[in-house]
Amino acid sequence: MGISGIGIGLRMEMAEALLERKPDAVSWVEVHPENYLLRAGKFADLLSVAREDYPVITHGLTMSFGCVTPFENEYLDPLKAFLKDIKTPWHSDHMCFGGAHGQMVHDLLPIPFTDEALDVVCARYTQARDHLDHELAIENVSYYAPPVHNDGARADLGGLAEAAFLTEMLERTDGKLMLDVNNVYVNSQNFGFDPRAFFDLLPLDRVVQMHVAGHQVRKDGLRIDTHGEPICDEVFALLEYVLPKTGRVPVLLERDNNIPSIDELIAEAEMLSAIYTRATSETPAKVNA
Ligand SMILES: [Fe+2]
Repeated sequence: MGISGIGIGLRMEMAEALLERKPDAVSWVEVHPENYLLRAGKFADLLSVAREDYPVITHGLTMSFGCVTPFENEYLDPLKAFLKDIKTPWHSDHMCFGGAHGQMVHDLLPIPFTDEALDVVCARYTQARDHLDHELAIENVSYYAPPVHNDGARADLGGLAEAAFLTEMLERTDGKLMLDVNNVYVNSQNFGFDPRAFFDLLPLDRVVQMHVAGHQVRKDGLRIDTHGEPICDEVFALLEYVLPKTGRVPVLLERDNNIPSIDELIAEAEMLSAIYTRATSETPAKVNA
């Protein structure tokens, strides 16, 4: 049986409290390989303890599927060994670019939804999956500049062009999707599209995992994907909308900033768990990749 239910991102600020409490609402954890590769000490010790109690799924920050510079084996080879050691069912990373000419910006910068970018993302995704010899999932990101979508059937779709782009990418590569529900909601509010229509355009049978998180609403109304606030009601509702369509895929509570007490995190995981049970009660278990 594959991994299902609610997971939580293992972060230094809360890892010890989580591993001590082992709440019923949390059934797996997610880690960023970048925090563990070539590192010993407390990070490695906490991961060893977590692995005794929880299945672990990996999620990366630096693959940059939209980057045009070639991968370096110094990056892919240690990652490959880590994924194998952890026995993660898949590894995920973002549909963005994070640098150019050897310089990293440590941010998830958006890509244009054009045919040229589609060729780049498909080639890079396939190359990484082949090199890692591991299932790979791509995640939709939040962005703050109006999306560029000048090609083909995507030209008239506005904010929904991302869904069409993702669908073409996934079908061309026979790929998997790590669907971030909060990112869809943030973009839908900032750029004026219907998030449910976005989900309805996607090949939801290709979703292997989802993310939910909180975001900030600025005074001018712009929503910023901070992972530093509680999850809002609209994102809970969207999760409940999409879960019956994806099947019982694992759902991650992403909290990276402004991390609250373990009690608050557990309460949020329990709310997610209740939605998960309700939304998937008639959905057969999904066999993970
Ligand atoms: Fe995410």
